[in-house]
Amino acid sequence: MKKVFPDDFLWGASSSAFQIEGAYDEDNKGLSVADFNSFKKSHIQADTKVAADFYHHYEEDIDLMKELGMKTYRFSIAWTRIIPDGEGEINLEGISFYNKVINKLIENNIEPFVTLYHFDLPFALVEKYNGWEGRETVYAFERFAKICFKEFGDRVKYWQPHNEQNLIVRVNERINIYDENDEYKIDKMRAQMDYNMCLAHALAVNACHEMIPDSKIGTAVSSSVTYPLTCKPEDVYAARMNDNFKVYYMLDMHQYGEYPGYYMNYLKERNIMPVMEEGDKSILKKAKMDFIAVNYYRTNCAEALKANDEHPFGSREGTVDFNMYGLFKMSMNPNLKATEYGAAIDPSGLRVALNEYWQRYHLPLIITENGLGTPDILTEDGKVHDEYRIDYLRSHIEACALAIEDGVEMIGYCPWSFMDLLSSAQGFRKRYGLVYTNRTDDELLDLKRIKKDSFYWYQNVIKNNGL
Ligand code: BG6
Repeated sequence: MKKVFPDDFLWGASSSAFQIEGAYDEDNKGLSVADFNSFKKSHIQADTKVAADFYHHYEEDIDLMKELGMKTYRFSIAWTRIIPDGEGEINLEGISFYNKVINKLIENNIEPFVTLYHFDLPFALVEKYNGWEGRETVYAFERFAKICFKEFGDRVKYWQPHNEQNLIVRVNERINIYDENDEYKIDKMRAQMDYNMCLAHALAVNACHEMIPDSKIGTAVSSSVTYPLTCKPEDVYAARMNDNFKVYYMLDMHQYGEYPGYYMNYLKERNIMPVMEEGDKSILKKAKMDFIAVNYYRTNCAEALKANDEHPFGSREGTVDFNMYGLFKMSMNPNLKATEYGAAIDPSGLRVALNEYWQRYHLPLIITENGLGTPDILTEDGKVHDEYRIDYLRSHIEACALAIEDGVEMIGYCPWSFMDLLSSAQGFRKRYGLVYTNRTDDELLDLKRIKKDSFYWYQNVIKNNGL
């Protein structure tokens, strides 16, 4: 392969607070939605209580990041460590923990890349305001973001307000919709939460630009490239609209400050138009992202609904993605192999995605998640031979190189994940890391960090700048 990655390309790796830190109630940390959801499954899989115990192992873990050669580390700050109830007193111990992490990264020449909200809304805000449904949560987030910018902005230049807003609004549990069964009420709540998250995003972007002049801020999108199941025009349209409803309505709002027509029509027809206040528009329009972060795991496949198909709103249909709006139906792509968890493996789809985002928004792109979730085997002599992960990462890095050759501006690549962590749905059974975390769902073991074969392979990739 010829040299295509720029010299300052940000090779890195990713994680998120609730999936890695543990210490879920130490040093005054408050309960989050992610904790709450994970405790419901404590009897069947690992939860957030210990996770990978990064909270107590961060020094050793950052030493490993240095050894890997990482130029950046994408991680999230737990809102509930900084403000345990989301909107009240600031917890100095939380600030101190992230100062230690950030300082250690900087000492090792690793650029901190921080997400402010990665699925872990303070649970107190759920109890008071039904989470993102309440406008109070928007302002609580703005305050939290400003506190982080003030405390860490002298050293952290790359920020993401939300991780995968476009995905979590479709997953009821993630947005604390637990007991409601009325689909209409759920969609109404969802639309309001989604809008409020857009507003919170915009307030954070504006504050970041005001408070940290040389900062860069952008959202992390859960990528969806949808292929039509056939070349029938109605299936092609279905595939297009699936991406519009899953991705572009949100990116348009984040970049241009308004929802596109098809999305406004949907909100009107479903009679779920969110409350938008006077003055919101100027906040939304002012907030311009500096980059788009792409989380890419799979592509999708869709076809048009037929007259007698029944697809209730939000129904899952055997794929990892699902038909949210009852407008089209998702299917497995017969031309692609899928992981055992149903994600279609498709490196060429990544090239398509990167080209699409670049052509639509002309913003630099960074991959902040991309990886293969699968069980790994620790051999008796303490090794993990994960050539399947190497194959996966290699083919996706090649897709990035091709996209760069196509003319896409890319600034970095961070696979998911730096180390094995709590998979959001499958605990420690499903592993993504370059570093093995020696624990299982049932037993904590010694939590030892073991470098997998993919660690050494990726170390070489970074050393040779992708060659
Ligand atoms: C992304 C999330 O959507 O997918 C991560 O940002 C998550 O938090 C990753 O871990 C993989 O999904 P899962 O369910 O296998 O953990």
